Amino acid sequence: MQYKEPMLRDGALKGHTIIITGGGTGLGKSMTKYFLQLGANAVISSRKLDVLEKTAEELAQETGGKVLPVACDVRRYEDVEQMISLAETTFGKVTGLVNNAAGNFISPTERLSARAFDTVVDIVLRGSYNCTLALGKKWIASKQPGTILNIIVSYAWTGSGYTVPSACAKAGVLALTRSLAAEWGKYGIRSNAIAPGPFPTEGAWARLFPEEAMPKELVEKLSPKNAIPLQRVGEHQELANLAAYLMSDYSAYINGDAITIDGGEWLLGAGEFNKMRDIPDGTWDAIEQTIRKNTKKGS
Ligand code: HXC
Ligand code: NAP
Repeated sequence: MQYKEPMLRDGALKGHTIIITGGGTGLGKSMTKYFLQLGANAVISSRKLDVLEKTAEELAQETGGKVLPVACDVRRYEDVEQMISLAETTFGKVTGLVNNAAGNFISPTERLSARAFDTVVDIVLRGSYNCTLALGKKWIASKQPGTILNIIVSYAWTGSGYTVPSACAKAGVLALTRSLAAEWGKYGIRSNAIAPGPFPTEGAWARLFPEEAMPKELVEKLSPKNAIPLQRVGEHQELANLAAYLMSDYSAYINGDAITIDGGEWLLGAGEFNKMRDIPDGTWDAIEQTIRKNTKKGS
């Protein structure tokens, strides 16, 4: 099937230097790999330097591209400024930003502490505007064009129970995308978003579908692939294809859009985690413990 294959022509991102937050794992890693294959330099950042260094080495070897791993907690503006400055020292300039870093886990909202709510919103929303603001200021001051891609989710516009902090934050990121498309277009800065449906990654599955703690009779019913009209989950390459296109000059006239890539999921059952209402109240302690255990293990 062609959707599992790289789509753009060789060298489509030559001359680009792209920062990918959360680029050490999951979808961030897959997008980074394809950007490198297309000739871009990549800066990958997250909190865990050891994970980033391992990914950087692996991807540089596989693609022959240049990858700079930088420890950066996107919640901290000083970290973000330092990351950009390191990227500029290494590659001269930065041409693109993918706001991909995220935090999320399923939970009935009333079980959350205020700090838990803040944590997810801070990573997703504050993290995205911190990186966007710090880089946008530089681009505007130096009269340099730039491309921003925000990774959101379809419940940014429908909302979704059981992932409420994430829904609030992703809705904010969608507003950021559209607002800056209108405001910064005049500087040659484009802002777009991708709203993926389920694409299996260790990070998301460990926190959103902790199967081992769910009632057995509900596992099949709650399984993400059963909520999708096309009856399959996404392939990382098809997301990477779309991301590379939006970061490339081929999409030069696309500004302010949010493209859904979910096999039709949200139209069939908007708010993909609403169905978690079937989970009996007494099961949530075990689910929470499993998610916390997965997180400690490093997922
Ligand atoms: C309830 C929880 C909890 C849980 C943590 N907390 N896990 N509350 N249920 N399962 C609470 C803690 O008790 C604490 O509050 C607060 O949240 C912060 O927790 P920390 O562990 O101190 O935070 P931190 O180390 O910053 O870790 C952030 C995290 C963690 C979000 C909790 O899961 C993480 O590092 N995630 C990063 C990767 C990730 O989430 N990837 C998935 C993205 S997938 P108190 O009050 O006790 O101090 C995605 C896909 C969407 O977004 C759609 C898919 C289809
Ligand atoms: P993932 O592998 O867990 O990716 C999240 C990344 O964010 C990790 O690399 C994590 O690294 C980083 N991160 C978390 N907190 C951070 C912080 N404070 N500062 C900097 N980096 C931080 O999960 P994923 O599935 O690939 O998710 C990637 C993106 O796709 C997210 O925006 C997610 O919402 C979106 N998405 C995914 C799916 C899916 O089905 N997988 C569906 C819709 C949307 P550290 O822990 O090292 O910091």
